[in-house]
This record gives sequence, C-alpha cells and structure tokens, in this order.
Amino acid sequence: MTSQEIRQKYLDFFKSKNHAIIPSASLIPENDPTTLFISAGMHPLVPFLMGEKHPQGNRLASVQKCIRTIDIDEVGNAYHHTFFEMLGNWSLGDYFKKQAIEWSFEFLTKYLDIPIERLAVSVFEGDENAHLDEESINIWKSVGIPESRIAKLSKEDNWWGPAGQTGPCGPDTEMFYWNDDKEPAPKDFDPKNTRWVEIWNDVFMEYNKTAEGEYEPLKQKNVDTGMGIERTLAVLNGLNDDYKTELFINQINKVEELSGKKYEESEEITKAMRIVADHIKASVFIMADDKNIVPSNLDQGYVVRRLIRRAIRYGRMLNIDKELWTREIARIVIKDYKETYPELENNKEFILNNLDEEEQKFKKTLEKGLREFEKGADAFVLFSTYGFPIEMTQELAKEKGIEIDIEKFNEQMKKHQELSRTASAGKFKSGLADDSEETKKLHTAAHLLLAALRKVLGENVIQKGSNITPERLRFDFSHNEKLTDEQKQEVEKLVNETIKEDLQVICEEMSLDQAKEQGAMGIFESKYGEKVKVYAIGGSSDAGSEPSFSREICAGPHVKHTGELGYFKITKEQSSSAGVRRIKAILE
Ligand code: SER
Repeated sequence: MTSQEIRQKYLDFFKSKNHAIIPSASLIPENDPTTLFISAGMHPLVPFLMGEKHPQGNRLASVQKCIRTIDIDEVGNAYHHTFFEMLGNWSLGDYFKKQAIEWSFEFLTKYLDIPIERLAVSVFEGDENAHLDEESINIWKSVGIPESRIAKLSKEDNWWGPAGQTGPCGPDTEMFYWNDDKEPAPKDFDPKNTRWVEIWNDVFMEYNKTAEGEYEPLKQKNVDTGMGIERTLAVLNGLNDDYKTELFINQINKVEELSGKKYEESEEITKAMRIVADHIKASVFIMADDKNIVPSNLDQGYVVRRLIRRAIRYGRMLNIDKELWTREIARIVIKDYKETYPELENNKEFILNNLDEEEQKFKKTLEKGLREFEKGADAFVLFSTYGFPIEMTQELAKEKGIEIDIEKFNEQMKKHQELSRTASAGKFKSGLADDSEETKKLHTAAHLLLAALRKVLGENVIQKGSNITPERLRFDFSHNEKLTDEQKQEVEKLVNETIKEDLQVICEEMSLDQAKEQGAMGIFESKYGEKVKVYAIGGSSDAGSEPSFSREICAGPHVKHTGELGYFKITKEQSSSAGVRRIKAILE
C-alpha cells in the first residue's frame, strides 16, 4: 500500500460518514503564542473543540502536517520523526464513543484489511478525575475484540492532552497492530511487547484542563483521533522500520550514495542516516510553509538551524564530503511530496538556497570547533558551543588516541536537557490557544492593524505571521522598508479612530470563493473550496452600503465591538527577515 492510498482511503472513508475534509493547516500556528509548531491534527482546531462554531460543520477529517521538536535528540530510532503526517477525524460535540470506535474498527478491518486477530486496544483505567472507561470496553467487545485483547492503562498511557498546559483533553483508546509476520499474535495483549505497535488513537475530549490543574467539563463532548501515516504505512507493508517506507527510502538511498556506506552497515550508521533524512525533511517542510521561515537564532528559525546543523554533523560522521549536499536530499523530499504538498515545489528555490547558505555558515563554525578540539576542548563545550554530537567527538578522539570522560559529559548533558525542557515548557505557559479576553482583544487589534497598514503603505502589504500573548501583539507583514515615524503615527491613528467609532465585529459564513470576491484577506492555500468564516469590522458586504474597514478569513474568536479594545500603541517596528517587517503593539 502506498502513502497516497492511505491518505485517500482515510479521507474517502470519513467523507462517506459525512465528514467535511479540511486541508492541512500551516505548520506555523496562527495567532497562537504558546507553541512554535502545529504538533497534532487537533492543534489548529482548538478553538472549535472549545466551542467556537466551525464553518464546515461538526464532523471534520484531515491529513495534517505536524512537527514535534521536544525530543529532537531522540530521533534516530525506527519510528521517531520530527516531521510527520497525522490522519485525523473529529466530532465537535456531535458523535461520541460508539461511532468513533465503530468507525475506527471498520476502517482498520474493512479498508486497511487488517485481520481482527492482529488487533488489540487499550482504554483508560480511571483515576480521581475520571472513571474507568467501561463504555469503550463494551463497544470494543461489541465489534468483536475479545476481553483478553483489551488493556486497561493509567493516565500516562491512556489520556491525551492538553497539548499545552491548559485546554481540551480526555481519556483515549489506542489501537495496536501485531507487527510480526512469522509468529501469530498471542491471545493476551501485553502492551509492553514491542511487536504490538500503536497505530491509532481515539481521544474523547470532554474535559478542559484549567491553569489551576482542574479538569472541568467542556461545553461539548468531542472526539479527536490521530493516526500517524509513517508508522501505519510501515506496518501495513510488513516493515519494522519507518525509514524503509516510500516516505523515507529515496532519501536514505541518496545518503548511501553520497556517503558510500550502507544503511544497515552498523547501528551507528543506521542512526546517522535516519537523523540526516528526518532532519532535512523537517527543515524542508518548515521552510516550505508560506511564512518565509529561514535558519536564524530565534523561534522557528532556530529550530530549522538546529535541524540542518545536526543533519550536517551526522552527514560528516558518515564521511559525506561533498560541498552543498543537503540540497540533494532536499530535492528528493520535494519530489516525493510535491503532489500532496504543492508548497514544496512552489518554494523550492527559497528552500534550496537557504540550505546552501546555512551549510556554508556552519562549515565555518565546524572548522573553528575542530581547531578547539585539536587544542583539547572539553566534549561538552564542543557539543554546546560548536554543536558536535558526542559520537562525532568520540570518533575524532579515537582517531587521535585521546580519552573522553563520558560520565562527565553525560552528567553535563543531563543538566543541559533539564534546562532546555524547562525552556520549552515555558513556551506552553499560557496554555494552548489561550482565549483570555486580552488575547481576544489583541487578536481583533491585529485585524485593524493589517487594514490600517494596507491603507497607509499600500495593498502590497499582506500578513506574514502573527503571535499574540495576553500582553502584546506581534505582527509580521510584507514590506520592504523601515516605517517612518509619520507612517507609524498614521497607522496608530487609523486603528484608534476605528476603536473610537465602536464598530461592530461581525462573523459571516460563506464559500471561499465568495470571501475572495469580497476581497477578504486570508490564506488562500486551501484545496477543497470549502466554507469559511469571515470577520468583518464595520460596514457591510451589502451592495451600496459603506465598505467594511477590515474583512479577514479567520477562525476567531474576536470581541463584539472595537470600543472594547482601549488605546492601541505600536511599541516597536523592526525587520523580521528579507522583505518582512515586524510590529509589536499593545492595548492600554
Ligand atoms: N491528539 C491525539 C494525538 O496526537 C489524537 O489525534 O495522538
């Protein structure tokens, strides 16, 4: 089975169950200050899981691009990926456990043709916040899963979310596939046996975890499911290594060709090749997003930089000595995925040029690190300052007959990881899709700001990104020059006048084509011609009436009247990247 067959089967199946198919959202969250990347199919849907109405209805399905960076240093095994695709279906307060489980079962056994003998499931065993999920047990039994194949597990295994520190979450039921063709699956399901591979997760999101750590019932009971394509593709093709599937194998073959080594030559080589393939693929996808992310020392750009540099280091360990080789792997990623994700082809030159540039920059750093090493630098300094993986330092040390104090290194590494975990946890601090009043106000202010910028600077201005915390708004937009003081004042004045007029903020639902026709701003990368929500501030779309000050395609939420916003002030205006300016603003 190919990856495209799985994607198509999945979407067709849920379409036949009256789900609207929604396109993959960008990898970079819109208006979400709390995380750098979209990490699950449900992530762009948080406002809707919390009760906002979705314009496509209350049954949705998608294939979502995802990035998980928490454990970058753990990539290298057979199934861990920084970039992956997640198949998912959602009920927003519509169906619940019975239909979700029955459909999961139907899809696995009838569409993916998995024999029931190779399936096992786990459910939540219950604790002080929520009881044992007997309902799910009974539904699984009713479709034919025997009791001995149903494990009851704790919150650690069978509870999903929130994705940040607060937000929608709930008990889940996971499905496992017996991934061994030689031996039949044992009668009893032992979740610790690694030949049982988890392939799908149905989450019953009926709680909201609050900042105080309480679990309060959500306005609606939702279903959120997720199936990783890479692993499912591997097991369905009888493989025990995702990197041998069509989603990776062409990259691996290229790395073999460039390095003159074989993928399975040794454990170290397998690991290094996986890291190269994983990291370059993730960098390509991040840069392909229409947000112009480039390697840098900040936020998403920093992640791209780390990924590319780590790939290069492992490439070096594999003895790849060709100049500018990362683009050769990137070309394969683009070729293999461009049908599904046209943004890869559209941004091809941008991606390849940035890879070249970063490779050249890193080469200089590496040379400096090597000189330090010659002088006897400490393994940890080489890691933290010059980014040398310990394996590389060990190799070098071996060549030179030098001893490395690995215990000391591990000790320092542990401290370092604790620090960086705390730092990334900080990113989630205010909770996923924080929907406080302050955030809502700044979100509406962002719409006013875009409209004002277009009036003052011209219609070439389009939004390139935004990031809102309860304290401030950060807004990136296309423009080539620094704003003059007069321009900044003019923009502020326009926004504040609009606030004073206390204009109504109206949400209308319409087709994407209608929205475009009305000149609504927004991201038009959508493929399915679906319904969208348009937030209009002031005026009306009716012919003959006053035009709106702002019209944007947006998920919301927003305030009802601009008068609620207070006084709008630009605190900073600076460059963000080539051709992109960044404004920071507050409401007083
Ligand atoms: N959100 C759940 C997960 O990521 C199900 O999609 O596993």
